[in-house]
Amino acid sequence: MSGPSNYKPTTAFGKWMHERLPVMELVQGQALDFPTPKNLNYWWTFGGILAVMLVVQIVTGIVLAMHYTPHVDMAFASVEHIMRDVNSGWMIRYLHANGASMFFIAVYIHMFRGMYYGSYKAPREVLWMIGVLIYLLMMATAFMGYVLPWGQMSFWGAKVITNLFSAIPFVGDSITTLLWGGYSVDNPTLNRFFSLHYLLPFVLAGVVGLHIWALHVPGNNNPTGVSVKGAQDTLPFHPYYTMKDAFAIVVFLMFYAAWVFFSPNYLGHAINYEEANPLVTPAHIVPEWYYLPFYAILRAIPDKLGGVIAMFGSILILFVLPWLDTSKVRSGNYRPLFKGFFLIFAIVCVALGYLGSKPAEGAYVIWSRILTAYYFAHFLVILPLLGLLESPKPLPSSISDDVLAKKKPALAPAE
Ligand code: HEM
Repeated sequence: MSGPSNYKPTTAFGKWMHERLPVMELVQGQALDFPTPKNLNYWWTFGGILAVMLVVQIVTGIVLAMHYTPHVDMAFASVEHIMRDVNSGWMIRYLHANGASMFFIAVYIHMFRGMYYGSYKAPREVLWMIGVLIYLLMMATAFMGYVLPWGQMSFWGAKVITNLFSAIPFVGDSITTLLWGGYSVDNPTLNRFFSLHYLLPFVLAGVVGLHIWALHVPGNNNPTGVSVKGAQDTLPFHPYYTMKDAFAIVVFLMFYAAWVFFSPNYLGHAINYEEANPLVTPAHIVPEWYYLPFYAILRAIPDKLGGVIAMFGSILILFVLPWLDTSKVRSGNYRPLFKGFFLIFAIVCVALGYLGSKPAEGAYVIWSRILTAYYFAHFLVILPLLGLLESPKPLPSSISDDVLAKKKPALAPAE
């Protein structure tokens, strides 16, 4: 997509470096000059926002780790020490804790953008699958991070989720023992979670590198879903999209700051300010908001193993999404029926999230079952059939044609 880079070193040092490590050629070709469809809207700024959030999480996490102690007798107190004694420690911690939520808000928008505009379809299947892998890594990282403050919800959340693995036939108990590093959630568990929570964000950064590589081979999709036909359909990434992304990043950071400075505990659980106590089970064990739809799916199935399979299945099914959607048309803008079903699917995901926050009883369980069935039907029945039955609207002949067709007529000159 990017073609040969136009980079020509202009200084003696630039020339010297270029002959040894042509890194500026890479930057110029893949970042500055990269031909990008000229019609990308603000939904395309969330990839950049996610990259910024990953850096924010790594930087704040490293500072937190300088003051945190991963031991069951000291973890809770060391977090209180960060909040009260370390200079600006409260801010670093709230940035990190709320940063996780912001990261998930951005990733959900990014994923739903991809689903609406059909960005997972050929030739971007691998790009999408790497995205799903990133999402899984994010979930694992956030789960282990939540255990570290060693509050009541940290402990009991860890207990419930690690226990799920014991439902796997034959090897389940061994897997749980391995995760725990013993026969219950205890100091070895906290230690290994800390170690992995520190490691995984760097693995994530590496996988994000692959994600961008896989993006730069076919190039970006765009709101029409029509492929780029030539230079007239694109703009260089810099300054057009560096500026658009920068603006979106600043607005997103303001939204993030509002949480951190005005409502830093709203997205958390009050009970996590009580130290972990293996002898007192909280009345309701509820995960962080970004896991709630999957928690609802887990509890919708009356059988433990069945629930675990449904929960993991609901994420893993995303890997094969490119082959379940049979429509040749990428963008939802030209698929009237798909548009409606996409909206229903988004509402179902939010409703499952609501149900995941409620106790698993009565009508909540019934609704969780209905919506879990719908969730899977969306992928396994609706998407494959829609592609065959729907008649899409006519596509624009090119990106440029679409842009020009939408251009407002110039005002007539004043008489
Ligand atoms: C740390 C997390 C992630 C980062 C930093 C990241 C970064 C990016 C960036 C910079 C882009 C190009 C700009 C844009 O389209 O917004 C992009 C595109 C894309 N990403 Fe991600 N991404 C992440 C997670 C994910 C996840 C979880 C998925 C899907 C499950 C995903 C799927 C895609 C797809 C399909 C595209 C191509 C979009 C298009 O051109 O239409 N990404 N990503």
